[in-house]
Amino acid sequence: MFAVQFDRFGPPEVLHFATADAPRPGPGQIRIRVQAAGVSPVDVGLRSGRTPMSARLPLPHIPGVDAAGVVDEISDDVDGVAIGDHVFGVVDVAKLGGATAQFAVLHLWAHKPTAMPWAQAGAAGSSTETATRALDLLDLQPGMTLLIDGATGGVGSIAVQLATARGIRVIGTARTDNHDFLRTLGATPVTYGPGLADRVNALGTTRVDRALDVAGAGSLPELLQLTGSTATVVTLADFTAPAQGIRLSMGQLAGEPDGRHGLNTAAELFTEGRFTVPIDATFPIQKAADAHETAEHGSRRGKIVLTIDD
Ligand SMILES: NC(=O)c1ccc[n+]([C@@H]2O[C@H](COP(=O)([O-])OP(=O)(O)OC[C@H]3O[C@@H](n4cnc5c(N)ncnc54)[C@H](OP(=O)(O)O)[C@@H]3O)[C@@H](O)[C@H]2O)c1
Repeated sequence: MFAVQFDRFGPPEVLHFATADAPRPGPGQIRIRVQAAGVSPVDVGLRSGRTPMSARLPLPHIPGVDAAGVVDEISDDVDGVAIGDHVFGVVDVAKLGGATAQFAVLHLWAHKPTAMPWAQAGAAGSSTETATRALDLLDLQPGMTLLIDGATGGVGSIAVQLATARGIRVIGTARTDNHDFLRTLGATPVTYGPGLADRVNALGTTRVDRALDVAGAGSLPELLQLTGSTATVVTLADFTAPAQGIRLSMGQLAGEPDGRHGLNTAAELFTEGRFTVPIDATFPIQKAADAHETAEHGSRRGKIVLTIDD
């Protein structure tokens, strides 16, 4: 099969086309012919060699944790899906990649709504799983107010919509020129950075019940100040959290229960017109290096995605 891969860690230019063996699905897995693959911060970090997890990667490595496509092989122990079905999901987490190729193996997935564009489906998997897992950990009840720090990125924009669908009032942080975008997702916007607690209080909010840190930008003390307890804050990106008594969710890599049920929820909400996967930029797979370059820099309004023409 064809694949976009890298043979050494480095800048986006290390990505190149190659021929690779097509993966085979293991127990509980399915294989798809890829139509679209998301580009996430984790892919960028692994490729650059900056993240400690890079040390676990055998080279060459095919990046990409999110993919959508047409099912072409199914493990014997899997049911509820058939050859030819259109699905989206997350690639085998143990391999930390594999999506930017002709074929990829998914270890969790949901059926793609017919009307959902391939680009949205290709980018949806891990952000939806992550957002769902974090919302579950926060034990949210309808009517609560949730503050999401980093609400316009890949994970944040999905967390806003999934929380809103649970009957939660969401306050989301973003840079000022992303505030209108955040309103379209259903959140009340506030600018991120130092002084956050004061700006949230200035909204006239009587209480913030829960807080989710997606940005890892050092806001945990202010999130604690707003919610009043370490039990009501979860971070996905601040590795200083455990020292502060705050939960850092790392998902299956840390042996936690995953949020796979969120993929079906997202598909149902999409069909009802209550969910979308915001796409910041789309590139043909031939431009994978440009996609990684874009993912490394600049403001975000949702996901970056690679598409593959038939
Ligand atoms: N633990 C896990 O299981 C898990 C899973 C997936 C991702 N993650 C991590 O979660 C983080 C976010 O991932 P993502 O895919 O959503 O990234 P992303 O798409 O790059 O979005 C990052 C967001 O952070 C916002 N931001 C930038 N500076 C900020 C600041 N100082 N304060 C608050 N927000 C700020 C950006 O807002 P503007 O564009 O408005 O500036 C943007 O919306 C990454 O660190 C990723 O590695 C963790």
